[in-house]
Amino acid sequence: MNADLQESPRFQKPVERRDFLGLAALWSAGVSFFVALLGTLRLPMPSVFPESSSQVKLGPLEKFKGVKMTAFPELRLWVFSDEKGLFALSAVCTHLGCVVGMEEDGGFYCPCHGSRFDAAGKNIAGPAPRPLPYLKLFVSPDGQLVVDRKKEVNRKVRLTV
Ligand code: FES
Repeated sequence: MNADLQESPRFQKPVERRDFLGLAALWSAGVSFFVALLGTLRLPMPSVFPESSSQVKLGPLEKFKGVKMTAFPELRLWVFSDEKGLFALSAVCTHLGCVVGMEEDGGFYCPCHGSRFDAAGKNIAGPAPRPLPYLKLFVSPDGQLVVDRKKEVNRKVRLTV
Protein backbone atom coordinates (compact mmCIF):
# COMPACT_ATOMS: atom_id res chain seq x y z
CA MET A 1 0.00 0.00 0.00
CA ASN A 2 1.22 3.46 -0.75
CA ALA A 3 2.99 4.97 2.31
CA ASP A 4 1.76 8.50 1.52
CA LEU A 5 -1.79 7.32 1.47
CA GLN A 6 -1.44 5.59 4.85
CA GLU A 7 -0.12 8.75 6.45
CA SER A 8 -2.98 10.87 5.17
CA PRO A 9 -5.35 12.03 7.99
CA ARG A 10 -8.32 10.72 5.97
CA PHE A 11 -6.91 7.25 5.74
CA GLN A 12 -8.93 4.57 7.53
CA LYS A 13 -7.47 1.24 8.24
CA PRO A 14 -9.73 -1.50 6.84
CA VAL A 15 -11.63 -3.46 9.45
CA GLU A 16 -10.20 -6.88 9.84
CA ARG A 17 -12.47 -9.90 9.73
CA ARG A 18 -11.79 -10.77 13.38
CA ASP A 19 -12.69 -7.25 14.50
CA PHE A 20 -15.84 -7.27 12.36
CA LEU A 21 -17.06 -10.56 13.83
CA GLY A 22 -16.32 -9.32 17.34
CA LEU A 23 -18.33 -6.14 16.73
CA ALA A 24 -21.21 -8.08 15.21
CA ALA A 25 -21.32 -10.41 18.22
CA LEU A 26 -21.24 -7.44 20.58
CA TRP A 27 -24.11 -5.70 18.75
CA SER A 28 -26.15 -8.92 18.68
CA ALA A 29 -25.69 -9.40 22.39
CA GLY A 30 -26.63 -5.76 23.03
CA VAL A 31 -29.81 -5.95 20.93
CA SER A 32 -30.78 -9.28 22.53
CA PHE A 33 -30.29 -7.85 25.99
CA PHE A 34 -32.37 -4.76 25.13
CA VAL A 35 -35.27 -6.84 23.73
CA ALA A 36 -35.16 -9.15 26.76
CA LEU A 37 -35.19 -6.11 29.04
CA LEU A 38 -38.27 -4.71 27.27
CA GLY A 39 -40.04 -8.05 27.65
CA THR A 40 -39.15 -8.21 31.33
CA LEU A 41 -40.39 -4.68 31.95
CA ARG A 42 -43.68 -5.52 30.23
CA LEU A 43 -44.34 -8.58 32.42
CA PRO A 44 -46.13 -6.71 35.23
CA MET A 45 -48.68 -5.35 32.72
CA PRO A 46 -51.37 -7.96 32.00
CA SER A 47 -52.22 -8.45 28.36
CA VAL A 48 -55.69 -9.70 29.25
CA PHE A 49 -57.70 -7.78 31.77
CA PRO A 50 -60.10 -9.68 34.01
CA GLU A 51 -63.74 -9.26 33.15
CA SER A 52 -65.32 -6.39 34.92
CA SER A 53 -67.86 -6.98 37.64
CA SER A 54 -70.98 -8.82 36.60
CA GLN A 55 -73.06 -6.00 38.08
CA VAL A 56 -73.43 -3.02 35.77
CA LYS A 57 -75.30 0.21 36.39
CA LEU A 58 -77.66 0.91 33.51
CA GLY A 59 -78.78 4.40 34.46
CA PRO A 60 -81.27 6.17 36.69
CA LEU A 61 -84.34 4.09 37.39
CA GLU A 62 -86.66 6.87 36.19
CA LYS A 63 -85.17 6.54 32.73
CA PHE A 64 -86.74 3.08 32.35
CA LYS A 65 -90.22 3.74 33.73
CA GLY A 66 -92.77 3.31 30.99
CA VAL A 67 -90.15 2.64 28.32
CA LYS A 68 -91.10 -0.57 26.55
CA MET A 69 -87.59 -1.58 25.53
CA THR A 70 -84.07 -0.28 26.02
CA ALA A 71 -81.21 -2.03 24.23
CA PHE A 72 -77.70 -2.34 25.62
CA PRO A 73 -75.76 -3.84 22.72
CA GLU A 74 -72.41 -3.46 24.48
CA LEU A 75 -73.76 -5.53 27.39
CA ARG A 76 -75.69 -7.88 25.11
CA LEU A 77 -79.01 -7.44 26.87
CA TRP A 78 -82.31 -5.61 26.73
CA VAL A 79 -84.35 -4.09 29.51
CA PHE A 80 -88.08 -4.38 28.96
CA SER A 81 -90.95 -2.90 30.81
CA ASP A 82 -94.44 -4.39 31.03
CA GLU A 83 -97.46 -3.81 33.25
CA LYS A 84 -95.81 -5.74 36.11
CA GLY A 85 -92.41 -4.03 36.05
CA LEU A 86 -88.97 -4.22 34.55
CA PHE A 87 -87.03 -7.25 33.43
CA ALA A 88 -83.72 -7.83 31.64
CA LEU A 89 -83.32 -10.37 28.89
CA SER A 90 -79.94 -11.61 27.74
CA ALA A 91 -79.17 -11.34 24.03
CA VAL A 92 -76.72 -14.25 24.17
CA CYS A 93 -77.94 -17.31 22.31
CA THR A 94 -78.12 -20.41 24.47
CA HIS A 95 -76.72 -22.56 21.69
CA LEU A 96 -73.15 -21.35 21.24
CA GLY A 97 -73.25 -17.80 22.51
CA CYS A 98 -73.86 -15.66 19.45
CA VAL A 99 -75.70 -12.41 19.90
CA VAL A 100 -79.33 -12.66 18.88
CA GLY A 101 -81.19 -9.92 17.10
CA MET A 102 -84.70 -8.68 17.60
CA GLU A 103 -87.26 -9.33 14.89
CA GLU A 104 -90.17 -7.17 13.89
CA ASP A 105 -92.69 -9.48 15.55
CA GLY A 106 -90.89 -9.02 18.90
CA GLY A 107 -89.18 -12.40 18.76
CA PHE A 108 -85.46 -13.01 18.48
CA TYR A 109 -83.34 -14.64 15.83
CA CYS A 110 -79.81 -16.00 16.08
CA PRO A 111 -77.85 -15.46 12.86
CA CYS A 112 -75.30 -18.16 13.61
CA HIS A 113 -77.35 -21.34 13.33
CA GLY A 114 -80.87 -20.06 12.94
CA SER A 115 -82.35 -20.48 16.39
CA ARG A 116 -85.54 -18.56 16.99
CA PHE A 117 -87.01 -17.34 20.24
CA ASP A 118 -90.45 -15.91 20.85
CA ALA A 119 -91.04 -12.47 22.37
CA ALA A 120 -90.70 -13.96 25.86
CA GLY A 121 -87.32 -15.45 24.96
CA LYS A 122 -88.54 -19.05 24.74
CA ASN A 123 -86.67 -21.18 22.21
CA ILE A 124 -89.09 -22.19 19.47
CA ALA A 125 -86.84 -23.34 16.62
CA GLY A 126 -83.26 -24.25 15.84
CA PRO A 127 -80.55 -25.82 17.95
CA ALA A 128 -80.79 -23.51 21.00
CA PRO A 129 -81.49 -25.86 23.93
CA ARG A 130 -82.88 -23.30 26.38
CA PRO A 131 -84.77 -20.01 26.42
CA LEU A 132 -82.87 -16.73 26.59
CA PRO A 133 -81.94 -16.06 30.22
CA TYR A 134 -83.67 -13.43 32.30
CA LEU A 135 -81.12 -11.48 34.33
CA LYS A 136 -81.42 -10.11 37.83
CA LEU A 137 -82.28 -6.42 38.12
CA PHE A 138 -82.11 -4.33 41.26
CA VAL A 139 -81.84 -0.71 42.30
CA SER A 140 -78.62 0.57 43.83
CA PRO A 141 -78.68 2.89 46.86
CA ASP A 142 -78.06 5.86 44.55
CA GLY A 143 -81.18 5.11 42.52
CA GLN A 144 -79.52 3.45 39.54
CA LEU A 145 -80.93 0.40 37.82
CA VAL A 146 -78.34 -2.37 38.05
CA VAL A 147 -78.19 -5.65 36.15
CA ASP A 148 -76.29 -8.67 37.35
CA ARG A 149 -75.25 -10.43 34.16
CA LYS A 150 -74.28 -13.61 35.97
CA LYS A 151 -77.49 -14.15 37.93
CA GLU A 152 -80.45 -15.63 36.16
CA VAL A 153 -83.92 -15.20 37.53
CA ASN A 154 -87.24 -16.85 36.83
CA ARG A 155 -88.92 -15.40 33.76
CA LYS A 156 -91.86 -14.26 35.86
CA VAL A 157 -89.73 -12.08 38.14
CA ARG A 158 -90.20 -8.34 37.65
CA LEU A 159 -88.63 -5.36 39.32
CA THR A 160 -91.57 -3.27 40.39
CA VAL A 161 -91.04 0.44 39.91
S1 FES B 1 -75.27 -19.82 18.42
FE1 FES B 1 -77.32 -19.29 18.15
S2 FES B 1 -78.10 -20.89 17.03
FE2 FES B 1 -76.06 -21.44 17.31
